[in-house]
Amino acid sequence: MPNEPAHDLSPSQETAVPGFAGPGHVAIIMDGNGRWAKARGRPRLFGHHAGAQRVREVVECCPRLGIKYLTIFAFSTENWKRTQVEVAGLMSLFRRYIAKELRELDAEQVRVRFIGDRVRLDQKLVKLMDEMEEVTRNNDRVHLTIALNYGARDEVARATRRLAQDVADGVLLPEHVDEETLPRYLDTRVLPDPDLVIRTSGEARISNFLLWQSAYSEYEFIDTLWPDFTAAELERLCRSYGARDRRFGAVTT
Ligand code: IPE
Ligand code: IPE
Ligand code: MG
Repeated sequence: MPNEPAHDLSPSQETAVPGFAGPGHVAIIMDGNGRWAKARGRPRLFGHHAGAQRVREVVECCPRLGIKYLTIFAFSTENWKRTQVEVAGLMSLFRRYIAKELRELDAEQVRVRFIGDRVRLDQKLVKLMDEMEEVTRNNDRVHLTIALNYGARDEVARATRRLAQDVADGVLLPEHVDEETLPRYLDTRVLPDPDLVIRTSGEARISNFLLWQSAYSEYEFIDTLWPDFTAAELERLCRSYGARDRRFGAVTT
């Protein structure tokens, strides 16, 4: 997405479920696939397949809940530390997922983007990712961003490298580097910041996800394992979000 203009942060055109102001951008750390499989005496990849199948329902309920942007964490820069069998199985699952869901997501008017470092990914997978972005580029109903080989520290390091290059080339003056400039170098430059970050599986940590972007996000850490997550649960979390008072450092009462 290098040539896309920055997001204008204008409010979502699709209205939320009447009665609550929901989050326009939800980001999800889809965790717990391995434990879900283990509880059933099955290999971890069985859990990953079940997890991938949950994504469709969640994407489909977004317009109804007023969620214009959905960002999901599929594979972290640290997940390469897993066994070769699990990593290879996940890469093959991503390839199959894209091939299988491409037409369906396009028919649902979903625009798909990927964030993360593509350099380490298999060329066949990268080609499918490019194709998915290209085919869906004119869609605007839901913006689905898949974080694949994504790590926030890696993202900030890559952004800083490009920024430093622009300074070295005389395109950017050091005194112009500020809170507005820096995020234009991040992978998420065309996306608004997440309003709500959800992590499933009971772990209360960020695990290197959207560190810059979630500075003022609301968080939900829930016990549900990702393959058990439903649209109904997302709706509940969106309603609870609607009752929160986001102060951004100010006093609102
Ligand atoms: C999340 O599920 C999916 C990925 C990290 C790829 P896990 O595989 O981390 O599942 P648990 O945390 O071991 O249960
Ligand atoms: C975070 O989950 C990454 C994804 C969901 C893709 P992990 O399972 O990798 O996180 P840790 O290792 O428990 O922190
Ligand atoms: Mg995990």
